[in-house]
Formats: sequence, C-alpha cells, structure tokens
Amino acid sequence: MSQEVFEEKEVLDTETYQKKKLELIDKVGFRDHFKADKWEDFNRDFFDGLAHKYDALNEVLSLGMHRLFKKRAVHNAGLKNGDRVLDLCTGSGDIALYIAKKYPGCRVVGADVSKNMLEIARKRGEGISNLEFIEADALNLPFENQSFDVTFISFGLRNLFDLKEGILEMKRVTRAGGRVVNLDLGKPKGRIRNALYTLYFLKLIPFLGRTVFHRNEFNSFKYLPESGKYFPAPEELLRVFSSLGFEDCRSYNFMFGAINQQIAEIRP
Ligand SMILES: C[S@@+](CC[C@H](N)C(=O)[O-])C[C@H]1O[C@@H](n2cnc3c(N)ncnc32)[C@H](O)[C@@H]1O
Repeated sequence: MSQEVFEEKEVLDTETYQKKKLELIDKVGFRDHFKADKWEDFNRDFFDGLAHKYDALNEVLSLGMHRLFKKRAVHNAGLKNGDRVLDLCTGSGDIALYIAKKYPGCRVVGADVSKNMLEIARKRGEGISNLEFIEADALNLPFENQSFDVTFISFGLRNLFDLKEGILEMKRVTRAGGRVVNLDLGKPKGRIRNALYTLYFLKLIPFLGRTVFHRNEFNSFKYLPESGKYFPAPEELLRVFSSLGFEDCRSYNFMFGAINQQIAEIRP
C-alpha cells in the first residue's frame, strides 16, 4: 500500500465527461436490455437487475478480496466512535454494515437509488440498531448541510452522470472538518502491471461474464472495465477534489494500484 499527494492542475470538464457517459450507454449495450431515456434510469435499472447477483459478482471480480480492500479503506478513513457516517451508493451495504458493526457508537446511513440493492442491504442489516438504509439520489440528497462527519462512496462515483456535482453534494452534507472518501478501481503504473490489469479487466472478465456469469443477460462484467475507460485516474480525481475546495487530498493504492482510495478533507 502506498500513499501519494498531488497538486492541483487542470481539472475535469463536465460537458466532455457527460458526453462520454452518454456514449457509454451504447458501448456497454444498455439499450439492448433496458428501456430508458436517460443515463440515470439506465444505470438504476442495471443495478436493480444485477442486485441478486451483486455480492457474488464482487467475489469473482476481486478474486475474493473486495471486503479486505473495503476494511482497509475504512481503517484509512480514521473514524471515531460517535461519528455520523454516510455510505453513498451503498449497494448491498458492505461498507455501511462493516462500519456499523465495528463502531457501535457511530450512526450509519447507507443510501442508494436501487430498490433491489437496498432490499438486500436491509436484510443483511437486520437487527443492527445504529444503521439505516434509505433510498436517495447521490446528486440530490435528502439531508441538511453538514449532517455527517465522514461520507464514503465506494465503486459509486463512476455511476453518477455528473461527477463534480456528486462530489459537491457529498461535501455539502459533510461537516466542516470532516472528510469525503472514495474507493474505486485505480490505474496501475508500470508496463507489466498495466498489461496484466488490462488483460484481466478488458479481456478475461468480460469473457467470463458473457460465457459463465451472465448468459443471455446484460453482461455486467463489461460495464466495470468500459466505465473505467471513462473514469478519471486517481491523480485526476485528486485534482478534482482539490479544485472543489477540499484540502489534504491524498490517495492509497491497494493491489499495486488496481484499486485506489482517495481521502479529501473539508476545511474546519
Ligand atoms: C457498483 S455498486 C457499489 C456498491 C457498494 N458501494 C460496493 O462498493 O460494493 C454502485 C451502486 O451505486 C448505486 N447508484 C448509482 N447511481 C446512484 C445515484 N445517483 N444515487 C445513489 N446511488 C446510485 C447503484 O444503485 C449501485 O448500488
């Protein structure tokens, strides 16, 4: 695991980013499987349809290691018992559940737009009293300003139509002096690592999805690598955080950079 700090340089252009997202609708084949008009609806329908297989998918894609990365990411975030924590795009609730159990003094909210994902998360969270799951759009959260001490998003930012708006909305609901944490695929550096990463995510994984995991269904194994092509590298994400007024923006690599976490602080 390594830690890097980046300076602010040029930042992501929202118009270009959204144009690429719209291109992605056709590139991943959303139209062949879902009836929708806009990115947000395609994306929600996709996750609603995937929900029952989502945990198994994570096990396969991460070679059984995704919970380990998530635990490390929570550890790096330096939570204190008593913190109010939001886990945005919570999916089946891995991060929210882990935090609620590990820090019984924290109040944890997991939020997602997919009803089916939330149903699974709620089942997994039954009986945990410091945890609740709510249906909410990351771009328009039903929380007052500064409601949380720490806001997490894991494999979620890439799904938002407007990346900067998503980050600003997380900043709005997080208190001054608090922090925002993002976990997602990274971009490994070095020829060999990069070649292995490309072979695994762009060739092997979509093939496995098509032939074994998702026969005759939408191939979710194609979505992750394709959406990754359009998603900023960790260095650029750090510049985006910094351009949006965050301080002490830093990143942590897992698995030689295949997975990356960024932490961005909000000025007290
Ligand atoms: C790849 S899953 C990540 C789930 C979980 N955080 C994890 O790391 O396993 C992405 C989740 O983002 C949710 N999502 C997509 N767009 C969203 C939005 N605008 N607001 C809230 N959730 C959203 C999807 O429904 C899905 O559950």
